Amino acid sequence: MLKRNWRVILVVCGLILALTPNLYGADKVLFPYQDPQLPIEERVEDLLSRMTLAEKVGQMTQIEVARLMGRDQWDRGPLNNTWLRNILRDNVVGSVFSGGGSAPVPNTPRDWAEMTNAIQAYALEHSRLRIPIIYGVDAVHGHNTVLGATIYPHNIGLAATWNPELVRKVAEAAANDVAATGVHWNFAPVGDLGLDMRWGRFYETFGEDPYLAGEMAAASVAGFQSEPRVAATAKHFVGYSEPEQGQDRANAELSLRSLREVHFPPFEKMIEAGVATFMPNSGTVNGVPVHASHYLLTEVLRNQMGFDGVVVSDWEDIVKLYSTYRITDNYRDAIRLSVNAGVDMSMVPHDAKGFTSNLISLVEDGLVSEERIDEAVRRILTLKFKLGLFENPFVDPEQADKVILNANRDLAKRAALESMTLLKNKNNILPLAKTTGSILLVGSNAHSITSQMGGWTIGWQGADNPWELPPAVTVRDGLLAALPKADIHFTADLNRALQLADEAEVVIVVAGEGAYAEMHGDNLEPSLNQADKDLIKALSAEGKRIVLVLIGGRPLLITDIVDQVDAILMAFYPGTEGGSAVADVLLGSYNPSGKLPFSWPRSTAQLPQRYNHWITSSYDPLYPFGWGLSYTSFSYSNLKVSNRVKLGETVEVSVRVENRGKMVGEEVVQLYLSPSHGPTLPRQRSLVGFAKIQLEPGERKTVTFQLGFQELASIHGDILGDGEKAVAPGEYTVSVGGLQNKFKITP
Ligand code: BGC
Ligand code: BGC
Repeated sequence: MLKRNWRVILVVCGLILALTPNLYGADKVLFPYQDPQLPIEERVEDLLSRMTLAEKVGQMTQIEVARLMGRDQWDRGPLNNTWLRNILRDNVVGSVFSGGGSAPVPNTPRDWAEMTNAIQAYALEHSRLRIPIIYGVDAVHGHNTVLGATIYPHNIGLAATWNPELVRKVAEAAANDVAATGVHWNFAPVGDLGLDMRWGRFYETFGEDPYLAGEMAAASVAGFQSEPRVAATAKHFVGYSEPEQGQDRANAELSLRSLREVHFPPFEKMIEAGVATFMPNSGTVNGVPVHASHYLLTEVLRNQMGFDGVVVSDWEDIVKLYSTYRITDNYRDAIRLSVNAGVDMSMVPHDAKGFTSNLISLVEDGLVSEERIDEAVRRILTLKFKLGLFENPFVDPEQADKVILNANRDLAKRAALESMTLLKNKNNILPLAKTTGSILLVGSNAHSITSQMGGWTIGWQGADNPWELPPAVTVRDGLLAALPKADIHFTADLNRALQLADEAEVVIVVAGEGAYAEMHGDNLEPSLNQADKDLIKALSAEGKRIVLVLIGGRPLLITDIVDQVDAILMAFYPGTEGGSAVADVLLGSYNPSGKLPFSWPRSTAQLPQRYNHWITSSYDPLYPFGWGLSYTSFSYSNLKVSNRVKLGETVEVSVRVENRGKMVGEEVVQLYLSPSHGPTLPRQRSLVGFAKIQLEPGERKTVTFQLGFQELASIHGDILGDGEKAVAPGEYTVSVGGLQNKFKITP
């Protein structure tokens, strides 16, 4: 008996050994899941049916690459064999990512490709079923952690372009770079809103308006995913951008009406655009951490919005359920809550075993169902198949430098140019004559690569290592190149500045903010630094003509200096070509067209200060939403609107725009809607359409908008805000470029 059993075991072992090399041979199709001819669904089901529980849980685990490097978790260095074995073999982890600043040494595109290839090769060799890893990164304004990659304006600047097509192109360029380094997953774009200037992540948003932010975020998704090897992430779902006092990851107290009307729309548009993955809000809403909210992650996201891709947690957020948010007192319970709420993959980010062993035991004890595990793993495997990872797990390192270094500088310039927003231009001091002979250039951001890039550049908190600065044109470089014959004096010293000011025809002060990220950027009174304020004050007391260029990520408190300067140009965080774009605008080589994607408060005491406020609130910002001057003037006429429409029909609005000035220019035509009455308190006005057009001097164009359900609907119902989303019959006013007209919707 015993003998016979041994024989059977020997035969089985022999068979396994005979099959094993085939299993590991990349090109052999042995099982249906390896057959690229089969539909993805079939491949997923086949693979899933062969996986052990441990293998499934491994797929739900994501580890930060620093864990695989050096000797401790924060070392940057070569890959470390002990940790490769721990993470990829012992815990069969299915995903690796680079958090802000995690890069190979040296940090070149080629080294990135070699690093991701090496991790992939190790994973494939040590995974029984040869399941490739998916590698993620935060490429939020270009492939921004890679030294030498072109950096684009941060989202807040892109939003000021009001040009979704441009945003799509920028995302496409970033995705090309990402793919060239063997990275498959981009934790971008952000669908949060810029509602509170105190919040350290304001610049990562597309501004305060749900409609504009939605259009931009959807365009960004389309751009990222136009590269078939890259998945985008809609983050951070949802309600992240309105924390108490603007403090990152403080609780947000939000009505369901506000969630549905203000916070959901950008995410809904990203789902329409086909976004592959979602990342939950790392904070809490109404006292519930979103990583444990079954309501938001399953009822809303899955059942109501119909999202069927992967939900990846944010950084360490399952741990935070007990360590920070204390809704439970142990890790195991936190994992149970989060996985059952709807998180498919945990961005752990360091301790793989802690996550995998707890989740396995939760399944064994029946506290997390196998169906739930299968559901999560099915989504993850589907994503991996869709990205072609089983067929093409590696990237060609020979190509990486070629694709990335110096790429798309024109596009970066175009994006920076269109983001430039002219806030003030007293006596048309701008554009400066190209014959300007002498300029005094001062201010802490006049020649700072770190500041003009902002956070999430090389390092998490920005490019703050002098030996690791990305290539860039600063404002000083840009002016020197544009005016080779002029005397441009640059100094950081106040007394020297006062001396030099005598000879200068104009003073340019470049001030604003430095680089920061997340909670490190929270600021209860964001303003200019004292040295720059002192400079402005002293130079203005001398009667100098002053042009203020602001580099930074949010509206800053400048009410006390507005009258001391003649012109103000908001440059946001303009990226690699920032300085050349600023020079082009100051000298009139480009006519500024940027419009504020947020309201610019006079003081933080005014917060919240939103253009689409309820009619019972006041609105008195320093500069309103949509504001931005041009060097030419546009006039609006012939505002027409279908005057009577039936419920369910679309409303057509058209308006004629003419360039009445002497310079070619782009105008952003902004259409707003105000209900006269409503089932709930009306909002003052809401953006329901926009179009960016270019007009030669004397040229006219007619712009037409269609208003459908999406533009006309609001959330009905009593104070819970759980009524239906519907169009209310009644009278409405449309306004555009200072004109108004009315229409009626009849039942
Ligand atoms: C941020 C995310 C980011 C993640 C990975 C988190 O701290 O909130 O936006 O994707 O880190 O770097
Ligand atoms: C990482 C970021 C991450 C943050 C979260 C940083 O050290 O580099 O990617 O978002 O930690 O706290």
